[in-house]
Amino acid sequence: MPDTAAAYRPAQIWLHWIVVIGVILQIGFNDAIVRVVDARGAGTMPEPGDVTWAWVHVGIGSTILLSVIARLGLRRRYGTPGHAPGTSAAQARIATIMHNALYGLLLAMVVTGMLT
Ligand code: HEM
Repeated sequence: MPDTAAAYRPAQIWLHWIVVIGVILQIGFNDAIVRVVDARGAGTMPEPGDVTWAWVHVGIGSTILLSVIARLGLRRRYGTPGHAPGTSAAQARIATIMHNALYGLLLAMVVTGMLT
């Protein structure tokens, strides 16, 4: 992965904010999908409104998945500007580990959601 780009590309920035907003929405609005899963577990019919909102959760989650994949592709192709000037080697290492963990967490949330 090249670490030499002068700046993030507009597409990288757009995808970044799409993922941020998507995650906030997913965390803020998951009651309906939890109720649908509970109703199915109890063998009862979920409320139609809840089913609609559950599909919205799935739609936003899928958008996040596609955005993360696209962002990884852009990162691979164009690289990133690297760490801010003055970042120590230890800080750079921790930041890289955190970024990778974030990508892993995002993908894990989507995969576990899909499995559920
Ligand atoms: C990064 C993307 C996602 C985030 C941040 C996210 C977030 C959440 C959160 C916070 C909950 C509530 C968990 C709880 O209270 O137990 C939840 C539940 C759920 N999500 Fe997602 N989600 C994402 C993607 C998806 C996707 C792509 C799907 C399905 C295609 C999905 C399906 C579900 C289901 C089925 C539940 C109910 C789980 C249960 O009741 O045990 N999620 N999600």
